[in-house]
Amino acid sequence: MLPRVASSDEPLRLAVLISGGGSGLTALLRYQEAEPRAHQTVLVLADSTDAGGLDHGLERGIQSAGIPLPDIADRVERRLAHEELVHGALLAAEVELVVLSGYMRILTPNFVRRWKGRLVNIHPSLLPKYPGAHAHRDALADGATVSGCTIHLVDEGVDSGLILAQSEVEVKPNDSVSDLQERIKKVEHVLYPEVLDRLAVGGFSV
Ligand code: GAR
Repeated sequence: MLPRVASSDEPLRLAVLISGGGSGLTALLRYQEAEPRAHQTVLVLADSTDAGGLDHGLERGIQSAGIPLPDIADRVERRLAHEELVHGALLAAEVELVVLSGYMRILTPNFVRRWKGRLVNIHPSLLPKYPGAHAHRDALADGATVSGCTIHLVDEGVDSGLILAQSEVEVKPNDSVSDLQERIKKVEHVLYPEVLDRLAVGGFSV
């Protein structure tokens, strides 16, 4: 189920989930500040309290919090309990669409089912190529001459959900992982806000 059709008068309520510096989050917040949009960020969540990106939300007065993994010995129980906390925070903030932006945790099918159709991710490769946590390393090791980013709905698999949009970038000879990462981030920062615009106004028929 996709989110309701929103407008700049009644923008879709987004939560952005991050794990690190949040350059994608900042790009989105700047985009939303620039003019009225059909989506607004009402919540920023990270999977640790020291994720640098939390400051980008806090300095704009957006509710922003790190939710670390709870202290539970069993791995499965710990993961499920963590997701319960995240789910509770999303409900409390009346979030309508969950935007993964550099969130480096794989969500369980339990969580994905609860947010299905209302859960989007950005991945730094042209999926289905190079899924997983090491997309840039894998692209370089494969001798790719083109890479890019993919925005997709999240399903129960890893980076396997329905693709909404992709942008290509050139892989240059002698690129390092960080060269490629930075070049891809530039196109991510343009593409994600545009896709969210389209999603928010019902522009995808899926
Ligand atoms: C982005 O390049 C995003 O595509 C990637 O993490 C980076 C986050 O950067 N996501 C993944 O690798 C998800 N598997 P940021 O924290 O600077 O926005």
